[in-house]
Amino acid sequence: MERPYWEDTYRDQTSRTFGLVSQEIIELAETLLGEGRVLDMGCGEGRNALFLAGAGFTVDAFDISEQGIDKLLATAERMEINVNAWVEDMRDFEFSRPYDLIISHGVFHLLPRDDWQRLIHRVKEYTVPGGVNVVAVFVDTLPTPADLIPHVKGLFREGELAELYAGWNVVSFESYIKEDEHPNGVKHRHPINKLVAQNPEVGMPI
Ligand SMILES: C[S@@+](CC[C@H](N)C(=O)[O-])C[C@H]1O[C@@H](n2cnc3c(N)ncnc32)[C@H](O)[C@@H]1O
Repeated sequence: MERPYWEDTYRDQTSRTFGLVSQEIIELAETLLGEGRVLDMGCGEGRNALFLAGAGFTVDAFDISEQGIDKLLATAERMEINVNAWVEDMRDFEFSRPYDLIISHGVFHLLPRDDWQRLIHRVKEYTVPGGVNVVAVFVDTLPTPADLIPHVKGLFREGELAELYAGWNVVSFESYIKEDEHPNGVKHRHPINKLVAQNPEVGMPI
């Protein structure tokens, strides 16, 4: 199978494969005041993990891509910040501790449906009372770009992500189209659902 385009940009220290830090991550960092333990699942080259570590959080982050983790660690060294980052397939990941904030940005739709359904249940279980999940996924309202078809195995239905978080406090839910251009030069439109939700068990309100 052809490797996804990000494997090439992860090799390039100067590129920003998925842009800058996500806006909701910046806002959460301000709200949570740099306190707590974060897990970034499928962290890629670490745009969100590095920012949160720099803001004072204790950050664990993993990705299946060796190139992504190498780039993240090289950036962390340059920035003189610490991120506990490692290579792992999310399907093999076992939680060994709870987290205040768990992020998975643009990853779950790359896994088969059964895997991400199981994982989201685990993610919720391992979020402390009052803790937060940030999940962004592609949904099925537009066709998948040709270069991603071999990699996208479990598109979400529109709204399905929010249904999985029924009973949690929804901090924000966005359904939007991202205009994108992969390095092959072809423009794409990705329909995305992004959810920020808080474990309703008693914790600090945000
Ligand atoms: C679209 S990128 C998003 C990267 C990062 N979350 C961000 O927002 O910048 C998807 C990432 O998921 C990773 N990935 C795909 N399948 C994975 C798996 N089974 N386990 C862990 N990471 C995986 C890829 O290597 C890639 O880095």
